[in-house]
Amino acid sequence: MWTTLGANMLAMSVQRHDEVLAATSHLPHLLAYSIVDVLAKEEKSGDIFRYAAGGFADFSRLASSDARMWSDIFVANRVASAEVLGSMITALQGLKTALETSPDTQLGTDLHALFSEAKRTREAFINTHYNPTANTHMNGKSVVFIAGQRCSSPPQIKGRVRVPGDKSISHRAIIFGAIAEGRTEVSGFLEGEDALNTVAAFRELGVTIVGPENGKLSIIGVGRNGLSAPRKPLYMGNSGTAMRLLSGLLAAQGFDSELSGDESLTKRPMARVVEPLRLMGASINAQVGGRPPLQIAPAKLHGIHYAMPIASAQVKSCLLLAGLYADGVTEISEPGICRDHTERMLEGFGYPLTRSADGSTVSLEGGHPLRATTIDVPSDISSATFFLVAAAICPGSDVVLEHVGINPTRIGVINILKLMGADISILNPRSVGGEPVAELAIKYAPLHGVTIPESQIPLAIDEFPALFIAAAVAQGETVLRGAEELRVKESDRLAAMAAGLERIGVDCEMFTDGIRISGDPEACFAAAEIDSLGDHRIAMAFAIASLRAAGELRILNCANVATSFPNFVELSSRLGLEIRVEHA
Ligand code: S3P
Repeated sequence: MWTTLGANMLAMSVQRHDEVLAATSHLPHLLAYSIVDVLAKEEKSGDIFRYAAGGFADFSRLASSDARMWSDIFVANRVASAEVLGSMITALQGLKTALETSPDTQLGTDLHALFSEAKRTREAFINTHYNPTANTHMNGKSVVFIAGQRCSSPPQIKGRVRVPGDKSISHRAIIFGAIAEGRTEVSGFLEGEDALNTVAAFRELGVTIVGPENGKLSIIGVGRNGLSAPRKPLYMGNSGTAMRLLSGLLAAQGFDSELSGDESLTKRPMARVVEPLRLMGASINAQVGGRPPLQIAPAKLHGIHYAMPIASAQVKSCLLLAGLYADGVTEISEPGICRDHTERMLEGFGYPLTRSADGSTVSLEGGHPLRATTIDVPSDISSATFFLVAAAICPGSDVVLEHVGINPTRIGVINILKLMGADISILNPRSVGGEPVAELAIKYAPLHGVTIPESQIPLAIDEFPALFIAAAVAQGETVLRGAEELRVKESDRLAAMAAGLERIGVDCEMFTDGIRISGDPEACFAAAEIDSLGDHRIAMAFAIASLRAAGELRILNCANVATSFPNFVELSSRLGLEIRVEHA
């Protein structure tokens, strides 16, 4: 069964299992529990815990594990645990003797040799086993989604689910938590590869981050000027958001850094951030055509007034991050409303900010501190979109999506689907940590084609792949113009969608800046093989299209679904869409 599910099976004797686990898991737990216990008993004044910081939080994390379970584990595995503990005690005894008796130079040399070897061993382990990006690379092109239903009777999509946390907000929680003063607690964090790469980058910049575990993490902020020089290029994986936002932050630091990314990110335009950052005085170098990697050198920044040529939240956020460190005021105006999570989060961290009444201009003065806060990340409306569309194209469907972020700068998909005739209700709207949140309820209703208002494009910029599937089953034509930005997302989304739609038999015409789709409410898509081009949203859009397909859709290169929606297949199945996953 496990092999069929795609797992690599390895066999191990029970005894060997107990020995290995005693060394890698049980001993570290025993040490973590006992160090906290020793310190608590030794030191009554409370000074130790008052002055304990990131290192102690990191080391003692395991002592927060379940006490009942761990005492049971040691009862069950006492023999192997005692043995490895014996080796540990011998090593500690040797260290104690050395500390007590070795001459200083000898002690220094011996400890240096031991620490260097241990550091090398740990780094090799982290690189091979614990680097989320390495896994992406290994799986890069191998995941295939296979889904297909008989379109004469598409399933009813029914149920109530909570999709994972918002990607934009998860990145920002790490970035601002890292440079704040104090400990920021985050819940609802998206444990997808993009946001995990951001966590790894900030650890490399010297920030202690405990977790994530079940969407919760703590960031021990180092303050505005507390980041330290990374020892290697910071790998941003598939994430344009992370690269663009970090370029603004790093341009203002007193050390060199480099930002790199995967194959898709390496093709994406960075001039949009490099050019205004240079106007602020940044020393930043991109490759031919303004592409990554970006090399950044220390520079003193000054504020600018910048009118963005495109409505980009990433550019705006990059410049605001640089502006936190710049002399004077940084003012940014946008040609169309784009997402404002950065502004809301800065306000949450107590940073003074001025926004024009219509939201089109934002300005801040450099030099103020950020104060740690608590962040509850809402579910990502961009992920919820796939199930909104699934329900919108299958008669009889009835779905509730819980705790979805409905920030007005993100609800283009709701506006457009409603314009097309979808039956969507916003239930129990509330504010969670400065971000509006609600349950989204959708019941099937027939759709009709629309001309998508240009004002909605930045508000639905990531949702078009799924919206095009809705358009393919709507009555009449849907036309999108003015959306050339879709060409420079994780893939050229206009080309990728047009190619896939043609393969499943949808009549469409691609323009340089948009697409026309002729919908058919009776549509029964052709079985086909579709290349998602490694773009998570193309992969998920066609998985949803399979609900109305005559036979199987084989969707290639789906590994990157893990960047934004790691449990997409599982939640789809809970709602009635079965997707088979093959590791080719
Ligand atoms: C994002 C902004 C959008 C969006 C991206 C995330 C952000 O990009 O497409 O997925 O977190 O700021 P642009 O602002 O460049 O359009």
